[in-house]
Amino acid sequence: MANPPSLRRRLLFFLALPMGLAWLASGALIYVLALHYANVNYDRSLLDGAHALEKMIRSDAGLQNLSPQARILMEYDPSDPASYAVRSVRHGVLAANAELPEMRDPPAIDAPARIESIVLGGRSMRMASLALAGAEDGDTIVVAVAETLRERRALAREILVGTLPIVLMLIALVLVLVWFGVTRGLRLLDPLTEQIAGRRARDLSPLDQRAVPVEIRSLTHTIDALFARLRDLLDVQERFIADAAHQLRTPLAGLRLQAERALADPRPESVRDALVHVERLSAGAGRAAGQLLTLARAQTSSQQTEPGSSVDLARIARDYIGERVPAAIAARVDLGYEGPTHGAEVIGDAVMLREALVNLVDNALNYAGENGTVTVSIVPEVRTIALAVEDSGPGVSEEWWPRLGERFFRPPGSHREGSGLGLAIVRRIAERYGAAVIYTRGRDGLGLRVTLRFPSAR
Ligand SMILES: Nc1ncnc2c1ncn2[C@@H]1O[C@H](COP(=O)(O)OP(=O)(O)O)[C@@H](O)[C@H]1O
Ligand SMILES: [Mg+2]
Repeated sequence: MANPPSLRRRLLFFLALPMGLAWLASGALIYVLALHYANVNYDRSLLDGAHALEKMIRSDAGLQNLSPQARILMEYDPSDPASYAVRSVRHGVLAANAELPEMRDPPAIDAPARIESIVLGGRSMRMASLALAGAEDGDTIVVAVAETLRERRALAREILVGTLPIVLMLIALVLVLVWFGVTRGLRLLDPLTEQIAGRRARDLSPLDQRAVPVEIRSLTHTIDALFARLRDLLDVQERFIADAAHQLRTPLAGLRLQAERALADPRPESVRDALVHVERLSAGAGRAAGQLLTLARAQTSSQQTEPGSSVDLARIARDYIGERVPAAIAARVDLGYEGPTHGAEVIGDAVMLREALVNLVDNALNYAGENGTVTVSIVPEVRTIALAVEDSGPGVSEEWWPRLGERFFRPPGSHREGSGLGLAIVRRIAERYGAAVIYTRGRDGLGLRVTLRFPSAR
């Protein structure tokens, strides 16, 4: 099984590599710096060497004694003796312990000593040189002293070897601090954990953000958003349970009453009469239960944020009206459709949109009355698509229009059977897909016209 992700490991991993590289880079830097300062110092003593030779040449003893003395001076380190050469421009080499190259342009007489890098016998060396006037008139004596870079490099290496472990220890210290720092930092989450753990199951109120570290606010905001959605879902569920109980209690009581009546009076006519009531009551309860379910579904789907795909409202309307026409004819209602045959695209779910239409047409057929007309129309406009259902029935008094769509609301005097859920379903579905619900009078001021104005999918 793969290890779960770990902040600590991730952090160490991301730190260890750059720090390792930094360690190597600091090593290189330290070496270069150390070599530089070693050069400064060793160059200085090389110059001292050249000046010491100069002094000997100028002394009384002069050139006769130079070689033994110079040897002592130059070869104090037998493992890596310095090289020297004293050359007269007229007479050639006067004294030397090595083949130092003849200088193409020797320094001017009594000018400050010169120091330069040379390669001798394949080895890099530093050479200091100066010139003084020879004993003979017009002669120049050039003094050159050279040494290898061995000691300088050895010193730089020594400094490097001495400092690298210190830097490494510092890095290790940082990593250990990071390790403990993360542990300590994560303790900032403890209050949040306690806050969530200490909640009652139904407590979905937003988290107390004051205790939440800013770095994880986005996480807690997401949790809060989830809580909010759960709260809405629970609300819908609770309302559904309450509504269902409320809706089913009355018909169940009615059914029981009818059954008692039939049992008390076993004459066939009264049993039959009771059964007629039973049939009507159970059909009504079945309808109400179905509408409750539809309402709950319309509400819960409105919780989901994904808006659905584009569907053709004209096709949905024509298909549905085709199905309802026989029933409308039987009820002597003229059911018709006005609008395009296709191409009224809106964003939504076909099942839900059809459900809205079903409820509107149900009402219209229900209230249009015999010989009435019901017209479903679709008017595509520039940015919107209007779906309207109107009938030629008695309509609804204007004062109740604002309340249509409330759950269980039925204007006083609603004489047809119903539960007051149909328009609530329509409203939810309209909300879900961003449609406005508009109530007006129908043609010639007759009946009710319900318009759903959808944003066009185009
Ligand atoms: N087309 C209509 N004509 C007249 N009244 C209507 C029409 N549509 C709805 N209503 C009124 O609005 C009320 C609520 O409608 P609705 O929510 O569908 O519930 P229900 O149809 O179950 O009564 C109805 O009881 C009715 O009084
Ligand atoms: Mg209805």
